[in-house]
Amino acid sequence: MRLSVPSGQESVDLATVDLFDPGLYASGDPHPIWTAMRERSPVHRQTMPDGRSFWSVTTYDEVNEVLRDHTRFTSQRGTLLSILGGTDPAGGKMMAASDPPVHTAMREPLMKVLSHRSLKGRMPEIRRLARRMLAPLADGGELDLAAAGAGFPMAFTGALMGLPEPDWPRLTRLTTMAIAADDPSFREGSSRGTLVAAHHELFDYFARHVRAVTADDRDDLVGFLLRMEVSGRPLELDEIVYNCYSLLLGANVTTPHAIAGTVLAFAENPGEYRRLTADPALVPSAVEEGLRWSSPANHFLRHAVHDTVLGGTPIAEGEALVAWLGSANRDERIFEDPFRFDVGRTPNRHVAFGFGPHYCVGAPLARIALRVFFEEVVAGVAEFRIAGPVEHLASNFVAGIKRLPVTADLRESGAGDLADALSTGGPLTFPAS
Ligand code: HEM
Repeated sequence: MRLSVPSGQESVDLATVDLFDPGLYASGDPHPIWTAMRERSPVHRQTMPDGRSFWSVTTYDEVNEVLRDHTRFTSQRGTLLSILGGTDPAGGKMMAASDPPVHTAMREPLMKVLSHRSLKGRMPEIRRLARRMLAPLADGGELDLAAAGAGFPMAFTGALMGLPEPDWPRLTRLTTMAIAADDPSFREGSSRGTLVAAHHELFDYFARHVRAVTADDRDDLVGFLLRMEVSGRPLELDEIVYNCYSLLLGANVTTPHAIAGTVLAFAENPGEYRRLTADPALVPSAVEEGLRWSSPANHFLRHAVHDTVLGGTPIAEGEALVAWLGSANRDERIFEDPFRFDVGRTPNRHVAFGFGPHYCVGAPLARIALRVFFEEVVAGVAEFRIAGPVEHLASNFVAGIKRLPVTADLRESGAGDLADALSTGGPLTFPAS
């Protein structure tokens, strides 16, 4: 999706806008629509030609209200627009599609194993991956940061989950097919067929993987899920499989787009990038601003548990609500000058990782990876230049970039490191097909 700055002159007819359409995010721009909705209709109903409908929630406060209150807005019926009108078979079995207390019972042990404290030992490995990914820039070459970034979370999450390395490229592609089934670079047959095929292959993969391992000899996330107990019983096979899927999807389809969206913002705001290279202590706040700016997880879905009222609008039991995180992260009531990319933004209470009970359980890992990655970027790169057309993903769920060709001027001190990295192996690029 384009990360534009609305001029305020756009005329938006809220009666005809279509926020479901994946094409809007590939070639259009939802920001003028969201800006108009925040102003004129913050809880806005869209009915599609086939009769299905959902409420779009666009302001920061109302997005937080929906995500926070599972007693009014359940995750159990599914959390992505792709499920609209259906029921999620993973409801009550996968942490992300459960409500407390089942959700809490699964989440608490996982939070410990995915905490910053448990994961910080992985920093050197993540730094090596980041260097390998950036290596093609060292000799003045062009790098498609979107293609290279696709393999980055797969490598550290694959290692964390104990998944065999030869499987990583296929898993990377399958996770993108699962969230961008309409995108021509990832569609295999019809959109519906792509989604079903991706789910089928991923669930089958994890079921075979889980059956092949035993809890005792596994010091990885899958072993942890095998040993985990919820309400005094071990998880069933399908519960383990759904949660493996959710963990891998959570990491794979978001992190690369936070990287690409942030680098694109650096290239488009060279003054902000110079400010960062002059003061690398700003890396953590630049990472948070990159997350706010790119909002890779664009929406999450909930269903009303009973009749309720949101922002003065009555919502009927069973109706679907979509919390648009990309919109909440540009809410002018919360963020000063929200369409300005500011590497030192303080405060920055963005909702890129969500809010409330489902707040991203992978946030500590994502933050470690993004900070380490951008430390390497700042040490090595003086300036980024966009070297060709930027292409956006056709997905209403992930605000993604699928092609971002860049070249870079290197910093004197960084050139050596990147050149060294070149000798550690080939570039970390998983092709789109
Ligand atoms: C930049 C990177 C990431 C972003 C922007 C992101 C975003 C989010 C958001 C917005 C949610 C809330 C979902 C909801 O409210 O229904 C979420 C939940 C989740 N994320 Fe992430 N995520 C990222 C990285 C990761 C990583 C690295 C992992 C895996 C280790 C992960 C795994 C999950 C899981 C399993 C959930 C469900 C948590 C729950 O239901 O309690 N995510 N993520």
